[in-house]
Amino acid sequence: MYTRCRVCAGKVREFLDLGNQPTANGFLLPEEVDRERTFRLAVGVCDECAMVQSIEDVAPGVRYHSGYAYHASGSAGHRQYFARQAQRMLATELAGRSPFIVEIGCNDGVLLEHVAAAGVRHLGVEPSTAVAELARRKGVQVVTEFFDERTAAAIRAGHGPADVIFGANTVCHIARIDSLMRGVAELLTPGGVFIFEEPYLGTVIEGRAFDQIYDEHDFYFSVTSVHAMAQRFGFDLVDAEHTPLHGGEIRYTLARAGTRTPRPAVAHLLRDEQVRRLSAPETLDRFGTHVRRVRDDLVTLLRDIRDRGERVVGYGAPGKCSTVTNYCGIGTELVPFVCDSTPAKQGRLVPGSHIPVRAPEAFADPYPDYALLFAWNHADEIMAKEQRFQQSGGRWIRYVPEVRVD
Ligand code: SAH
Ligand code: TYD
Ligand code: ZN
Repeated sequence: MYTRCRVCAGKVREFLDLGNQPTANGFLLPEEVDRERTFRLAVGVCDECAMVQSIEDVAPGVRYHSGYAYHASGSAGHRQYFARQAQRMLATELAGRSPFIVEIGCNDGVLLEHVAAAGVRHLGVEPSTAVAELARRKGVQVVTEFFDERTAAAIRAGHGPADVIFGANTVCHIARIDSLMRGVAELLTPGGVFIFEEPYLGTVIEGRAFDQIYDEHDFYFSVTSVHAMAQRFGFDLVDAEHTPLHGGEIRYTLARAGTRTPRPAVAHLLRDEQVRRLSAPETLDRFGTHVRRVRDDLVTLLRDIRDRGERVVGYGAPGKCSTVTNYCGIGTELVPFVCDSTPAKQGRLVPGSHIPVRAPEAFADPYPDYALLFAWNHADEIMAKEQRFQQSGGRWIRYVPEVRVD
């Protein structure tokens, strides 16, 4: 259990306990239920550097393995987004002579496939073997390792320094972030950049996206906490931009201290977070109160629907759905199954709550009265695809930022 900050060793004050939870992407077969492990899911904030982080630690090997179920290419929106990100880097940071990019957590190659197609030197670092294999089939070079200072040194020795180190939805997953930062310092060229985009603390706290809290997310970054972390490891935060994935993220750019002039956005966002008191104790405590109310409202709604004899089906089985169902105590008596387009999740059970995951075809067979939208961050894409559900009288239930029925 951590009571000391993983970044600066300051004191971490707990502000929310989401109860006993399994690993959120550990979709399991019915016969594996007995072997499932749980741990306490709680988050706190560092008094010194304002980094919001999980209190408990789950060994990386328990979370990322051959059966790791998250496929980044599963959403058309994500595919388009990362294609654009790749083109942008190819036109800027990777436009020099023989550039080299390392991606931490390349998953199924959703970004690097475009870099590979452009013939640019690259290396994905991806410990989950099955998704790494999917990337390789797209022509992406991958090493199946956990990125840390040791692997960074090995990559430098084998390939030379990297002009860009990139990570999306991965840096916040790495508990030993001190080792990661030392690895970045080791691997980056003198003028290189470390770009990472991750769920934003503002989205979680102000946007009430409490289901972003699960075991894989060791950190909930803010511009304030990343700025402090950068300095501690010899970097400057030179840019910070809002980006749209997962309900709202920030894309941070770090460069070695003194090598680049920070863009005005950095000072602006730092000031803004201070004015909003984003990581102040009263803000975080208010968030906790709100989360408990959402839980009560959602459970009441689902029980009412059940008592009226109407049907609810879950839509999407993201990692987030483990947090919500387990925190609220929602099982098959309230939501008999969820539909998800990821083949690796189908035929398995949602971790902890053990709600079966079925293919999307089960959704229309016949349509339920209500669909509980666990994949709420893909609402536009999903609702456009499922117009017939609503036309046939079906209604969507959402619980972020609060419970509502459309
Ligand atoms: N970049 C993709 C995938 C994010 S999922 C996207 O934005 O959608 C996070 C990925 O990080 C998983 O594939 C996981 O296996 C990988 N990962 C976890 N710990 C890692 C580490 N220490 N080094 C490299 N990759 C890691
Ligand atoms: P996502 O929110 O991207 O990830 P996380 O696990 O990090 O919270 O997951 C969305 C899930 O929703 C994923 O399992 C795929 C599923 N999905 C569908 O079933 N249908 C769809 O149309 C879309 C866009 C996603
Ligand atoms: Zn700290």
